[in-house]
Amino acid sequence: MAEFRLPKNSRLKPGKTWPKPEGATKTTEFRVYRWNPDDGENPHVDTYHIDREHCGPMILDGLHYIKNEIDPTLTFRRSCREGICGSCSMNINGANTLACTKGMDEVGEDVIKIYPLPHMPVIKDLVPDLSTFYQQVNLIEPYLKTDTALPDKEWQQTPEDREKLDGLYECILCACCTTSCPSYWWNGDKYLGPAALLQAYRWMIDSRDEGLGERLDNLEDPFRLYRCHTIMNCANVCPKGLNPAAAIVEIRKLMAERNV
Ligand code: SF4
Ligand code: SF4
Ligand code: FES
Repeated sequence: MAEFRLPKNSRLKPGKTWPKPEGATKTTEFRVYRWNPDDGENPHVDTYHIDREHCGPMILDGLHYIKNEIDPTLTFRRSCREGICGSCSMNINGANTLACTKGMDEVGEDVIKIYPLPHMPVIKDLVPDLSTFYQQVNLIEPYLKTDTALPDKEWQQTPEDREKLDGLYECILCACCTTSCPSYWWNGDKYLGPAALLQAYRWMIDSRDEGLGERLDNLEDPFRLYRCHTIMNCANVCPKGLNPAAAIVEIRKLMAERNV
């Protein structure tokens, strides 16, 4: 398992500048973080030029262009290419987002700088190790917990109760919020972070769930819930437009009501 973490404000050494594609008339420059645990080299930033006439418009298209046409060693995660799977999250010109839903022209700068999600161990190039993140999501038990006997067909829910899940169920666990949260950067081993807490709230307010007490007990801890300082980075970066900070406030209210 790789151990390298990108230091805050680090100035990485420039790596290789790859030649512009032959005959390209319109190009966009990508500077991409590179690190391979197996080559003994320090991390560096490689420069590539994307031939815009032979490439789709999104950042993920640019990364595919690099991998297919220039440098097959570049490593990144992706699957759905439409903002559903959450696997192409990365840091693009200073902000965490999804490479597949971010247009090259949307970035608004001549050079597109791409790094892995910050403050996570890096496995290779743009691939962070999200094991701790997934363990934290698992810890909040992201599934229906019930005591009553199973219904014959299904757990039913009124349209009004179903609506309460809007703004929560859409989370794709991309980790953009959690890895942009300063409280998580400093206490990532103990504070659960915005994504896991938004998930926790999603199950707490599900009318079909009967595990609220246990769920609150699980968060009754000086670190798991109470490290949010409403800095709001999470809501600012979420590519699905969700607001984990608001969900955290709601959990705190439930906790306070229970402890009265
Ligand atoms: S609002 Fe809370 S969870 Fe969101 S980034 Fe700030 S400290 Fe982190
Ligand atoms: S809340 Fe938004 S940023 Fe955070 S994991 Fe879910 S989709 Fe990603
Ligand atoms: S590839 Fe699935 S969200 Fe980007």
